[in-house]
Amino acid sequence: AAIAPDERLGVAKPHQRYLPKGTVGRQAAQAVVVDYSSPNLAKEMHVGHLRSTIIGDALARTLEFLGHNVKRQNHVGDWGTQFGMLVAFMDRVREGGDTEDLSRELADLEELYRKAKHLFDTDPDFANTARENVVKLQSGDENCQIRWLNYTAVSLLHCEKVYGRLGVMLKRDDIRGESEYNDDLPEVVADLEKAGLLTESQGAQCVFLDEFRNKDNEPLPVIVKKTDGGYLYATTDLAAIRYRVGELHAERILYVTDSRQALHFRQIFAVARKAGFAPESVLLEHVPFGMMLDKGGQPFKTREGGTVKLTDLLDEAERQAIGLVNAKNPDLPDEQKREIAEKVGIGAVKYADLSQNRTSDYVFSWDKMLSLDGNTAPYMQYAYARIQSIFRKGDESTDYTEKKSTNYTNFLIEDPAERALAVKLLQFAETVEAVASECLPNLLCGYLFDLAGAFTTFYESCPVLKSPEPTRSSRLALCAATGRTIRTGLGLLGIETVEQM
Ligand code: ARG
Repeated sequence: AAIAPDERLGVAKPHQRYLPKGTVGRQAAQAVVVDYSSPNLAKEMHVGHLRSTIIGDALARTLEFLGHNVKRQNHVGDWGTQFGMLVAFMDRVREGGDTEDLSRELADLEELYRKAKHLFDTDPDFANTARENVVKLQSGDENCQIRWLNYTAVSLLHCEKVYGRLGVMLKRDDIRGESEYNDDLPEVVADLEKAGLLTESQGAQCVFLDEFRNKDNEPLPVIVKKTDGGYLYATTDLAAIRYRVGELHAERILYVTDSRQALHFRQIFAVARKAGFAPESVLLEHVPFGMMLDKGGQPFKTREGGTVKLTDLLDEAERQAIGLVNAKNPDLPDEQKREIAEKVGIGAVKYADLSQNRTSDYVFSWDKMLSLDGNTAPYMQYAYARIQSIFRKGDESTDYTEKKSTNYTNFLIEDPAERALAVKLLQFAETVEAVASECLPNLLCGYLFDLAGAFTTFYESCPVLKSPEPTRSSRLALCAATGRTIRTGLGLLGIETVEQM
C-alpha cells in the first residue's frame, strides 16, 4: 500500500537510499553529465543521430527523476573538416561568377554538403583548400568565422525543430560544441607534455599507452595534434573532460554514441586518467549502441540508398499512426485523431528503439513498432487509455495521476491476480534504479510490458466497477496505481500517454 499515496511511486530520492549491504551511510545525489545527441552540424539530422538522442534523453530523465543533478551536454560537431569544405565550396561558387545569395544556398544545407563532399573526395586541390580553411577557422580567421556562424546557426535551428517534435529536453544552454573548446586545446597538449605523455611521431604529437596495441602488437597512438598544427576529435574530448570535471563538477559522465566509437572513448578515458584530467573518483562511461537496420538486415537507408532524414522519418511515423487511430476509433474528430497520432507515432519510434537492448543492432520495422500487441508504445498507450476509460465509465475522476489525489489507497489483496499485479507495482522503484545504474532503458520497457500483462490478467478475472465495496475501491486503487506507473514510466522514456485511442 506504500506506493499509492506516494507521488514518486515508491522511488526514493538519493539521500533516502541506503548504500549496499556492508557499507555505511546513504547515497548522495550525483552530478551526472549526459553527453547525447551531439550531431555534426554541417548536415541535417539523420537516422544516425536518432538513437543517441532518444536513449540519452531517457537516461537523463531517469537520472533526474532519481534525484541526481543532471547536466545535459550536446557536444555538437561544429568545428571539423566539414566546415572547411563548406567554406571552400562557397568560395568556388563565387569565383565561378555565380553570385547566388548565401541564404539561398543555406536553405538546403544538405544539398550544399553533398556537393562539397563530392568535390572533396574527387578533387585534391579542393580538398587541400578545405583543409587550409579548417586551420584558418581554428586560428580565428574572420572571414571563415562569419561563414561558419551562418552554417551553424541554420543547422542548429533545424536540430531544434527535430528536438521539439521528438519531445527531447535539450536546450540551447546544453550546447557546448567542439568549437567552444578551441582555446583550451594548446593547453591540453601542453599539459600532456608536462605529464610526460607526449611523443612526436612522423611530425604529429601523440600519446602512446601500453594497453592499446594493433593486431601486430604495435603500440597505437592517440594523435592530439597533427603535422599541419590541426587538433583532433580526441583533443577536443580531452578538453571537454577537463571542463566537465573542473567546471561542471561531474562525478559521473555518460557518453551516448554508437559502438563504433568504443576505442576512441577507451583511449581518451585512459589518457585523461594518466594526465590527471579525471580523478579515479569520477566515473567515465561510454554508453554504446548498435545500428538501425532495415528488414533485410542492411543499414537503414532511403530507397535510393541515401541517409534517411529525421524529419522525413517522423512525418512517416505520424502518417502511419493516423492509420492505426482510424482503425481503432474512426468516429473521433480529425483534430483529435491528429493529436493522438502524433503521440502514438513518435512514441512508437522512440519505444521501438528503447525497448531493445541498446548494445545490439535493431531492425526498424513500422509494422512491428505500431502493432497493438507486443512490447510496443501503442500497446502501452492503449493499456493506459483503457485504465482511464474504467474511471470514466465508473464516473470516477481520471486525474488520480495527479499528486493531489489520495482517493485510491485502500488495498485489499485477495485474488491471486490482484496479488501478482501488486507485486509488479512494487518492483517499479528497483527497475528505475537499474535503468540508471546500467544505462539500460529496455529494462523499464520490459517492466512496463510485464505490468500491462499483469493488469490484463487481473482485469479479466476481477470485475472492478461491478464489485461490492470495499472490493470495488481496492480494485480501483490497483487500476489507479497501474495507470500512474505506466504514465510515469513512459514519461521517463520521453513518451506521452493519451486519454483515449
Ligand atoms: N559528433 C559526434 C558524432 O556525430 C558525436 C560526439 C559524441 N560526444 C563526444 N563527446 N565525443 O559522431
